[in-house]
Amino acid sequence: MYASRSEEFRLYVIADTHLGTRHSDEAKLRQIVKEIESDSHNYWVGLGDYGEYINTTDPRFDPRELASWLFGGEQLADIGRAESERFIETMSPVKERCLALVRGNHEDAILKHSDHDVYARIIDGLANGHPLRLDHSGFLTWRFERQGGSVWSLRMYLTHGSGGGQSGGNTGNKLEKMVRDHDNVQIVMMGHHHDPDHKPFAKLRPGRKHARLVTVEAISAPALTGYMSYAQAKDARPRPTGYVVIAVTPDKRRLGVTMHS
Ligand SMILES: [Fe+2]
Repeated sequence: MYASRSEEFRLYVIADTHLGTRHSDEAKLRQIVKEIESDSHNYWVGLGDYGEYINTTDPRFDPRELASWLFGGEQLADIGRAESERFIETMSPVKERCLALVRGNHEDAILKHSDHDVYARIIDGLANGHPLRLDHSGFLTWRFERQGGSVWSLRMYLTHGSGGGQSGGNTGNKLEKMVRDHDNVQIVMMGHHHDPDHKPFAKLRPGRKHARLVTVEAISAPALTGYMSYAQAKDARPRPTGYVVIAVTPDKRRLGVTMHS
């Protein structure tokens, strides 16, 4: 519910924080939390891989990659718990403004190889009465109602994303596929690739008399973690870290997408 025609809301997209690796940009994450907190029109969604979730029994475990706060007996004994609690604690000040949380492949991997359901722990820890749980992917409808005025629903498709691919065209192809595969949404977004990209696509939609051109904003969100050693070992290209802010003016039905790095 909002009052004025010029009111603007903002949706912060937080992806691939990978808490627990020393490359995770926790300072930037805390700064984003402060920014979200500063205005009641700010909301956020999470696109998965909240923690790195590589515990001591995992063949990928490398002590050189750990964040310093994991070097305690309690933390090392249960890395899944420590990293989930860190994410919950960091995001708690803006818990009420969370609209959805998808599950990343790092949350999947620790559940497959141990019995830690870290995604369920995060969903419980940030529970706010909204149905936050989208699992790997799903739709989110954000409904805006002006006092005594119009109602508008902004529909989005959110996914963690999947697959590798180092070529420059890979991310663009994935964005195009997301737009093609999902109808009646104004925004599609993915994380996982750590490869910031934003492209508006046009689609034709039949109307009563004429076909209408609709725009779909396709977003690949940057990660909030830097160049990890395993990416370097595979000669992956380094990519900028950051986050996305989607500005929404419901009365004008206007969207503006900004990449922050
Ligand atoms: Fe991922």
